[in-house]
Parts: sequence; structure tokens; C-alpha cells
Amino acid sequence: MLSKKSFDRFIVPSAVAAAWLAITGSAAAQNEPQAWYTTEQATAGAQQARTNCEPCHGAELLGGDAPALSGPELFANWPTAHSIYAFFSVEMPPFSPGGLGEKAYVEILAYILSLNGYPAGSEELTADPALLEEIRLQPQTP
Ligand code: HEC
Repeated sequence: MLSKKSFDRFIVPSAVAAAWLAITGSAAAQNEPQAWYTTEQATAGAQQARTNCEPCHGAELLGGDAPALSGPELFANWPTAHSIYAFFSVEMPPFSPGGLGEKAYVEILAYILSLNGYPAGSEELTADPALLEEIRLQPQTP
């Protein structure tokens, strides 16, 4: 028959292990980087940006006469993809504010996400505000 002491020794470690698995398992699922756009969209966005944005914002949008569209300062100004999209799809480029059309602006957003370390995937990015609100702009660990 199991004494109280050996029973504790048996049950406690497995309960701890189960709790540990539950914690690390869900943490792994949360750390999985979500893919918000396709490679095709980012490639098309790079072409759009080359003629419409990079003349001022610099090659690969690293900054020129106008601010860089990547890095910590950008993240500080714009908490979500929706906030920055709502700005540039209406205000940019200055010579034709809002003039590029939704498809091009969404592609440029995909390009900006790619420049900032967000992974590409199989789902297409859209201009849906609820979707864009889910994309938090923050430094990505590679
Ligand atoms: C003719 C030059 C010019 C072009 C072309 C241009 N921009 Fe800008 N953009 C600016 C300037 C200047 C500012 C800074 C304005 C300010 O701070 O009020 C700016 C600001 C921005 C900001 C805010 C940056 C920040 O640090 O908060 C974003 C985002 C942006 N532009 C996106 C774009 C995108 C996307 C394109 C291409 C579709 C584009 N711009 C094309 C001149 C330009």
C-alpha cells in the first residue's frame, strides 16, 4: 500500500509537469508570428513605393527628405497597421493624396510590414479596418 509520503511524491511532480505543459504550450502558440500578407503583395508594394514613396522616404523607405517608414520611431507614432494605413492612404503621396487606389495602398502596407520583419504567408492583406486594427506595430524578433 502507498504511504502518504510516496503518494505525494508520485502525484505532485506529474501535476507540476501538466501545469508546465499547459503554460509553455499556450506560450508557444502565442509566439507563433502571424502572417498578414502575401509575398506577391509585398513585391507589388515595393514597386508602388519605388515610384510613389521612395523619392521622399528613401530607398527601402529607410528615410530621406521624409521620415523612415520602419524602426522604433515609426512604431512609437503608429500603434497599429490601421492607424498608419488610415493616414497614408488618405494623405500620401503629397502630390496625389489618396490617389493610388486601395489595392496599391494595401500592397504598400504589405511592403512596410515586410521591411519591418513581419513574415509573409498565404492570406492576403485587405483594407478591412477590423483586420488592420489587429496588426500591432512593434519590433519583430527575427
Ligand atoms: C513628395 C514627398 C513625399 C512622398 C512622395 C511621400 N511622402 Fe510620406 N511624407 C512626406 C513628408 C514630408 C512627411 C512628414 C510630414 C509630417 O511630418 O507632417 C511624410 C510622412 C509620412 C508618414 C508619417 C511618418 C511618421 O514618421 O509618422 C507616412 C506613414 C508616410 N509619409 C507614408 C508615405 C507613403 C506610403 C508614401 C507613398 C504612397 C509617401 N508617404 C509618399 C513626404 C512624402
